Amino acid sequence: MPFPCERSPARPGWVYLVGAGPGDPELLTLRAARLLLEADVLVYDNLVSKEVLDCVPAQTERIYVGKKAANHALPQPGINALLVEQARRGKRVVRLKGGDPFIFGRGGEEVEELVRAGVPFEVVPGITAAAGIGAYAGIPLTHRDFAQACIFVTGHLKDGSVDLDWDMLARRKQTLVFYMGITQLAAICGQLVAHGLPATTPAAVVRRGTTRAQRVVTADLATLPDAVKAAGISPPALTIVGDVVGLQSRLAWFHPERE
Ligand SMILES: C[S@@+](CC[C@H](N)C(=O)[O-])C[C@H]1O[C@@H](n2cnc3c(N)ncnc32)[C@H](O)[C@@H]1O
Repeated sequence: MPFPCERSPARPGWVYLVGAGPGDPELLTLRAARLLLEADVLVYDNLVSKEVLDCVPAQTERIYVGKKAANHALPQPGINALLVEQARRGKRVVRLKGGDPFIFGRGGEEVEELVRAGVPFEVVPGITAAAGIGAYAGIPLTHRDFAQACIFVTGHLKDGSVDLDWDMLARRKQTLVFYMGITQLAAICGQLVAHGLPATTPAAVVRRGTTRAQRVVTADLATLPDAVKAAGISPPALTIVGDVVGLQSRLAWFHPERE
């Protein structure tokens, strides 16, 4: 692959915190693709798609540290220690994370540890799920007629609850994107309506967006939880709320199920 700019190759003893994007491997940045080819060791988790992993050379050492909700393959302090240890062995370490490492990715915690340990690092941004899914599902996250702001929200707190500023979230003319919110969907929709958003506000859930397994369920705040349950949608899925979702049926262009 030609690289259009002079960037340094992956260096021994460095950790590269790389965003893998939402799933489609063609959404990797050029920097990410290059580092995946040059890494000695790849540390990755369950949000990284199989299609992206298929871009990594077979001889690269792979360490899975995946997490699924409360079921952590390796707790965060263990991941932090592993990155430091691999770098100190002189490896070129790629820590690959779904989407963007600094958006609900605990990338900040890992970098803090690298700074503490004096390990050199680079952070490579990735396309976050909201941007990738907005594009592939046909939902522009902002639109002059419908939304002048877009808010990324976690639908899952450390203790399993959802404790958010509902008055701020329930304002009109903005788009809400809930990461990790699928298990709390009924509570989220209920709170938004209780705090003033019309029950008819368009809303969507998108599972495994940008991949061949992408599924999109659209409804409104009143009916979305039942529609998602009926469709059998499980994580990873993103919830988008706002009038921009009303454009989805006209703007959708990616239909892997039809191919
Ligand atoms: C721990 S967060 C990580 C977010 C990631 N760092 C990013 O920037 O996209 C995981 C959540 O991201 C969302 N997500 C990530 N990739 C997704 C995809 N391809 N389709 C749907 N949701 C996705 C889901 O809400 C999932 O529960």
